[in-house]
Amino acid sequence: MAEPIRVAVTGAAGNIGYALVFRLASGEVFGPDQPVILHLIEVPPVVSRLDGVQMELDDCAFPTLAGVEKFDSDHLEDAFANCNWVLCVGSVPRKAGMERGDLIRVNGPIFTSTGKAIQAAAADDVRVLVVGNPCNTNCLIAMHNAPDIPRDRWYAMTMLDQNRAATQLAQKAGRPVADVKNIIIWGNHSATQYPDFFNASIGGQPAPQVIGDDAWLQSDFITTVQKRGAAVIEARGASSAASAANAALDTVKSIITPTDAENSFSAAICSDGSYGVDEGLIFGYPLTSDGNSCSIVQGIEHSAFAQEKIQATLDELRSERDTVKDLLPG
Ligand code: NAI
Repeated sequence: MAEPIRVAVTGAAGNIGYALVFRLASGEVFGPDQPVILHLIEVPPVVSRLDGVQMELDDCAFPTLAGVEKFDSDHLEDAFANCNWVLCVGSVPRKAGMERGDLIRVNGPIFTSTGKAIQAAAADDVRVLVVGNPCNTNCLIAMHNAPDIPRDRWYAMTMLDQNRAATQLAQKAGRPVADVKNIIIWGNHSATQYPDFFNASIGGQPAPQVIGDDAWLQSDFITTVQKRGAAVIEARGASSAASAANAALDTVKSIITPTDAENSFSAAICSDGSYGVDEGLIFGYPLTSDGNSCSIVQGIEHSAFAQEKIQATLDELRSERDTVKDLLPG
């Protein structure tokens, strides 16, 4: 067996955390020969819930689980010590009457201390995936507070939007979801995201050709994906948790596995200026991985329709960056 890797999960006793940690422990993500030590992190008032999570992890008897360590969020340097992956799920949820800007300001400081502690204590090869919302801007804050960690190690999650879009296209086309490739989520994980159907394919054919209903693609498809989170809350009485955890695991797998030829995956990463996006913004792009590092797919043409959508999500991310500029040293 290889040396264990250490995977930290913040908000580990929350809804997504509970749907995430068992699959991380099971060998599904890092493989059956890779032991994993989980670092579970919660805020002090509920840290004792992690005892129950640990009991259940023990009771699964996963051969790949080499240890469980529990921490409270007042001791983040201990929590992230030697971690190879940090999955930032914990954040304060949006409450009734709260504007997006308020949420950004409430969660900003969490990600300031997260970034500092990752830089101080994590393993040299650490990679970070931010799930807690607003995930692009939380990731931006953490990255700025960890200037020694290379910028290509930071990811914010748009995979849930990709998976939602893939299923919408597959169901409309009456095809298996595995036939749908190259779904790109441009920009922010928010209602301004642009799920790109022009460049998606179904069974190797352009999605618009297979679907044959441009009006649906340009309206219902986009709004269904953009508003899916709210629809799940309405129907389930709670926000997406199992599907969000699944998307976090899909993101990690996509980063550590070479991408199939003719495919790409979606995540928000630190922009290098590609597609006219400000350098340094955490922006959703089409990516490919060589199993170690990721590259932005280049050369995609955008119609006027797409350009307008991308501009709207870019403008939103610029304004989020302005809202937290005092939290962005360097
Ligand atoms: P939840 O409220 O059930 O769990 C969040 C957990 O985080 C709680 O147990 C809370 O105690 C903990 N927490 C809060 N602040 C923390 C801190 N500073 N350090 C460590 N733990 C902390 O929420 P849920 O459903 O698990 O969602 C978590 C986050 O994921 C939310 O921000 C949600 O908006 C976001 N999300 C993101 C998605 C995406 O696609 N990027 C999709 C779905 C949810």
